[in-house]
Amino acid sequence: MKFFLDTASLKEIREGAALGVVDGVTTNPSLLAKEDGEPETILLEICRTVDGPISAEVVATDTDGMVREGLHWAALHENIVVKCPCTAEGLKATRILSSQGHRVNMTLVFSPSQGLLAAKAGARFVSPFVGRLDDVSTPGMELVADLVQIFRNYDFQCEVLAASLRHPLHVVEAAKLGAHIGTMPYAVLLALLKHPLTDIGLKRFLDDWEKAKKEMGAKASR
Ligand code: G3P
Repeated sequence: MKFFLDTASLKEIREGAALGVVDGVTTNPSLLAKEDGEPETILLEICRTVDGPISAEVVATDTDGMVREGLHWAALHENIVVKCPCTAEGLKATRILSSQGHRVNMTLVFSPSQGLLAAKAGARFVSPFVGRLDDVSTPGMELVADLVQIFRNYDFQCEVLAASLRHPLHVVEAAKLGAHIGTMPYAVLLALLKHPLTDIGLKRFLDDWEKAKKEMGAKASR
């Protein structure tokens, strides 16, 4: 399973990349709007920090505009993936961009039928929004399972990019279902690592070691 960071914060991306388990980054207009600086500058710096797919989303809502913006993002760096929303216009833009060799991440996917259409249009990644489905009392993880099965049935060269993951169990569930990628906030990545028994166990090892060293030192000085 590949791990992407779902953030446009360079600080978080640098810290996450240093852990050695980050394979890519997803941004969206909301995430970029939170950061200071030009989106182009931020995206380029992200590309220099993480050598993997970096999603940059279009904000146009018509096909021509999406294609224009997508080409602009794609020209920034070879690792940029154009993110298009799952609408009729987005589907047309996905077909055009993918036919020209650009990778597209179809975002805002909330149903298996949307995911199937995205894959047929040539999307390289499809992003089911797990947390936002959970928010409206619909089990988001079932969508991940459905998409994994559908893509497998037909050997689509399209990866399920589980998005809107809000906590460690979302990531673990997506992994159990075979999602190719999970994109998560930096805090969720850190939470995956944390376990109180690890902290307690490490403290005990170090305390025992210090105690043994002191005892050996005391014996030697007798
Ligand atoms: O990857 C999509 C993500 O940015 C949305 O997450 O938590 O706003 O639903 P959230």
